[in-house]
Amino acid sequence: MSNQKDRPAKPNSKPSKSRVTWFSAAAVAVVAAIVGGIIWLAPPPLTPDDADVVVYKTATCGCCEEWVDHLREQDLHVSVVNVRETRSVQQRLGVPATLGSCHTAKVGDYFVEGHVPADLVQQLLVEQPENLRGIAVPGMPIGSPGMEGPNPVTYDVVSVDLEGDVAVYATRQGQTAD
Ligand code: CU
Ligand code: CU
Repeated sequence: MSNQKDRPAKPNSKPSKSRVTWFSAAAVAVVAAIVGGIIWLAPPPLTPDDADVVVYKTATCGCCEEWVDHLREQDLHVSVVNVRETRSVQQRLGVPATLGSCHTAKVGDYFVEGHVPADLVQQLLVEQPENLRGIAVPGMPIGSPGMEGPNPVTYDVVSVDLEGDVAVYATRQGQTAD
């Protein structure tokens, strides 16, 4: 929407020159529209930041904070963004809905969904696998980092490749709280 009112074009006394000017102006307008359109269509950047990990979570998520602490304890530089819901971030980063958890992170060009162990986040940063979209710990398995507790379970960390195929990336034994 625009607040500007349309103004009538000024009458021009030199038609031949005006025609050239009009074409130039039209060309500029077309280029501006294309560039503007590209900028407009592109989603807003996901926090341009020098952080290793940008975490998107809801403000009230306690286990998300625990996971952030876990990453920071392993010397990862983490930036946190509170959002109303994480599903739209998941969609933008290509996280399949079936692999959803409580928070979504952007690590370089990859997504890291859920309570993924920090060493696997570091591995992703070091190895930069070309065929992966990201890795995930679906749900919130008891014993995963940030979810430590009694009766920890063995859980899978899964990878999602560029075709959307899911595979087991690592299997971990959950931990009890200290
Ligand atoms: Cu959680
Ligand atoms: Cu979380």
